Amino acid sequence: MTQNIKKKNSAKAAFELIKPNLNKDTVLGIGTGSTTNFFIDQLNESDIDIKGAVCSSISSEESLNPSIRVISLNEVHLIDFYIDGADEFNDRFELIKGGGGAHTREKIVASASNEFICIVDESKIVTELGAFPLPVEVIPESRSLVSRKLISMGGIPEYRSGFVTDQGNHILDVRDIDISNPQSLELMINNIPGVVDNGIFAANKPQIILVPK
Ligand code: 5RP
Repeated sequence: MTQNIKKKNSAKAAFELIKPNLNKDTVLGIGTGSTTNFFIDQLNESDIDIKGAVCSSISSEESLNPSIRVISLNEVHLIDFYIDGADEFNDRFELIKGGGGAHTREKIVASASNEFICIVDESKIVTELGAFPLPVEVIPESRSLVSRKLISMGGIPEYRSGFVTDQGNHILDVRDIDISNPQSLELMINNIPGVVDNGIFAANKPQIILVPK
C-alpha cells in the first residue's frame, strides 16, 4: 500500500467515525496538509449538511467545497471535531506538527475543539519526538535572536527560506533539540520573546490517533 493510500484510508476512517454525529449544528475544525486534504475530499463529496468549518489555513479554506461555510473561530464557542495530520507522534499521543507551516493556527483550533482526531500513517510513529525538525514560527524581526536562543538550548535552527506563514511570519526548523520532555520544551520555546508558537503538541494532544492497518 502506498503512503498516499494509507493517508487516504486514515482520512476515510476519521470521516466514517464522525459521520453519525454530523448534522446542521456541527462545526468542524479542519487542519492542513496532504492527509487532511483527503479528509476534505470526503467532506466535499458527502451531501451531509453541517453548520460550517473553522480551518487552520487559507489553503484548507480554499480546498473546501463552496457549499461548506467557512467560519471564523471568533464566531464560534466550540468546535465539535478537529481533524488534522501530524509529522510525528509518540505513544503518549504527543505530536510534532508544522511541516506545512500552519501549526500556530492548528494549535489554536485544536484547543477550541471538543475532540481532536489525528489522521496519520504508521511512518509518523516515533519512540521519541525529534527526528522531524521542530518548526518554530517567529516574528520576522526576531528570527536571528530566536535562532541564537535555540542554539543555546542545543538546537540547530534552519530558516525555512522563502516561506511565509498565513500570519506573515517566518519558520525556523530546529534539528537536534532534546525533546525528551515535550511538555516543558513546548513551554520553554514559547517563552522566548519573538516566538509565536512551536510545533510540539503536548498540551493540546489528540484524543484519538487513527493509523490505517
Ligand atoms: C501542517 C501540519 C501537517 O499536519 C503535517 O505536516 C502532516 O502533513 P501531511 O499530512 O502532508 O503528511 O502540521 O502544518
